[in-house]
Amino acid sequence: MPTHDDILTEIRMALAQGGDARQALSTTVAALKSRMPDYTWVGVYLLEGNELVLGPFEGKPSPHERIPLGRGICGAAAAEKSTIIVDDVNADPRYLACSVDTRSEIVVPIMRDGEVLGEIDIDSDRPAAFGDADRRLLESVAELLAERL
Ligand code: SME
Repeated sequence: MPTHDDILTEIRMALAQGGDARQALSTTVAALKSRMPDYTWVGVYLLEGNELVLGPFEGKPSPHERIPLGRGICGAAAAEKSTIIVDDVNADPRYLACSVDTRSEIVVPIMRDGEVLGEIDIDSDRPAAFGDADRRLLESVAELLAERL
């Protein structure tokens, strides 16, 4: 099984191939989804005004294509400008359900110069699936994406 560092290297190399912002997002989402077995749903939201708008994703279609800032775990992470890990989504009143099978979630803001451009949102069907290694990987990936948006 690949390590988190292997995945980061793969994503760095894939992004170095070029392409526009949308391709960079799709490539990254596909790499994370295919390489990380616990990552059941992987998507990127982009900030447009006061709303997070769903961009490239892999997994079941989400009913939440537009999320106002401050709503859901996604909106909270953007408002707080920091990563949020939720070990048990059913115990978090902020959670906006995407799938009944989802048990845990991580949301990582994509930031440049202190401003939120968007975020990486990942759901897992496994409880407490996200730890420090996932946080470090995804915060590094968010930095790579910030350079491309
Ligand atoms: N669970 C998110 C909504 C997006 S879906 O997971 C794709 C939230 O609570 O903000």
